[in-house]
Amino acid sequence: MIKNICCIGAGYVGGPTMAVIAQKCPHIKVTVVDLNEKRIAAWNDQDVNNIPIYEPGLSDVVAEARGRNLFFSTEVDKAIDEADMIFISVNTPTKTYGVGKGMAADLKYIELCARQIARVAKTDKIVVEKSTLPVRTASAIKEILEHTGNGVQFQILSNPEFLAEGTAIEDLFAPDRVLIGGDTSAEGQKAIETLVAIYANWVPRDKILTTNVWSSELSKLTANAFLAQRVSSINALSELCEKTGADVNEVARAIGMDSRIGSKFLKSSVGFGGSCFQKDILNLVYIAKSYGLNEVADYWEQVIIMNDHQKRRFAKNIIKTLYNTVSGKKIAFLGWAFKKDTNDTRESAAIYVADDLLSEQATIAVYDPKVGEEQIQFDLNYLETRSEDANKKGVQVVDNAYEACKDAHAIAVLTEWDEFKTYDWQKIYDNMLKPAFVFDGRNILDKKELEKIGFIYQGIGSR
Ligand code: NAD
Ligand code: UGA
Repeated sequence: MIKNICCIGAGYVGGPTMAVIAQKCPHIKVTVVDLNEKRIAAWNDQDVNNIPIYEPGLSDVVAEARGRNLFFSTEVDKAIDEADMIFISVNTPTKTYGVGKGMAADLKYIELCARQIARVAKTDKIVVEKSTLPVRTASAIKEILEHTGNGVQFQILSNPEFLAEGTAIEDLFAPDRVLIGGDTSAEGQKAIETLVAIYANWVPRDKILTTNVWSSELSKLTANAFLAQRVSSINALSELCEKTGADVNEVARAIGMDSRIGSKFLKSSVGFGGSCFQKDILNLVYIAKSYGLNEVADYWEQVIIMNDHQKRRFAKNIIKTLYNTVSGKKIAFLGWAFKKDTNDTRESAAIYVADDLLSEQATIAVYDPKVGEEQIQFDLNYLETRSEDANKKGVQVVDNAYEACKDAHAIAVLTEWDEFKTYDWQKIYDNMLKPAFVFDGRNILDKKELEKIGFIYQGIGSR
């Protein structure tokens, strides 16, 4: 039985996942380690509201387990040494250099973890891939562990995470399924059962799926590809709806009620963001190409092409509607996070829309309930489109929506935060320049109400 778990990587996955394992399994000591000292310090902040990740319900879970059987530390070697089971939950970004640049997953952090585990481990360990990895990564990890280790035995499992940000805790408490892939040997099956036993503390057995390691690795990439494909499919239709007078919300409702299609993931938007959809599909495309499967690669790549088009189309539409120029005009951004209920901004559509508008010399005022100025400037500077000074001059970050919208020509809704629906829109209108426009990139506001006030309203996918 497992008594001691170590998780390498205290990010959006490692943090919440381990907090829930610790809460549900008080008999297991769980230590989450990271190289990032600032991040670990924030996880250990006395005030649980200051933990580095905003996620509904997470602070309560951390408050219950932290200091009891949940620990956050920078002492990676020590935690590896003491653990019977090690989760690798480090980042696997798209490669930005060399072969596979812009497509393949960069596995350098994974390899470093494997080498570190091999160097430090003095007793047998089960190593669990929690990060999203290209199919067949387990064989590389195995090779490193076996060739550079101290002769101890390692079993490698794939246990991809399916949580979505903003609902991470509910997803972890009641997952649709837990997927565990392992070696087909007797030792592999025993390792699988050991991990099954941990999840079985709160997940019904029939929701715990066991497979071979390659199926598990590939299922994770595939699940994300299918989800993103639905968003790109509905977004592709949104443009056709705008041309034809059909309403994408009505179309989504009508097709989603077919139980074979289903109603989820059919919300048209300014484009999907987040750290994983794009990265994982690009990775899938790269893998397909590397096996010479060009049609397969092209098929999935179109999901990304469509998404890029949707983001650009939104910005273009703002410019066109504001009489073909936004130069010197103030545009208010409501929301910067890639979806509601998270402080994560990675690949958020807001970044790209802002970048396009800044290139047209607009000025932007941003309000997001959970994202601050430092992050917003970082996101824009990361694109390297213009100088940091120019980004600072072009983008003002404020702490409430009313101020963001004051004297603005237009409002762009980039994130579907619930609070936006509760505002005094008459007051917002009164303080804007006229005509006052709303570009609702999430279709969350009431078009009729806003038009009654005097706004010119444009949602996605309807006239
Ligand atoms: P993240 O960037 O938030 O966290 C990764 C952490 O790993 C960072 O804090 C980094 O400092 C740390 N790290 C990197 N190398 C290290 C090392 N050698 N030793 C110690 N710490 C190290 O990333 P994330 O969003 O948590 O994603 C992690 C993995 O999980 C990715 O593969 C991602 O695709 C996958 N995933 C993410 C989500 C999500 O919603 N974010 C959901 C499912 C799966
Ligand atoms: C997604 C998957 O949903 C998770 O199962 C997976 O574990 C995770 O990726 C991952 O591997 O990282 P996440 O990116 O956190 O989770 O959030 P989603 O709810 O999937 O939203 C992704 C993007 O799609 C957001 O920008 C969201 O606004 C957009 N979206 C989603 C739409 O535009 N329309 C929809 O109908 C649904």
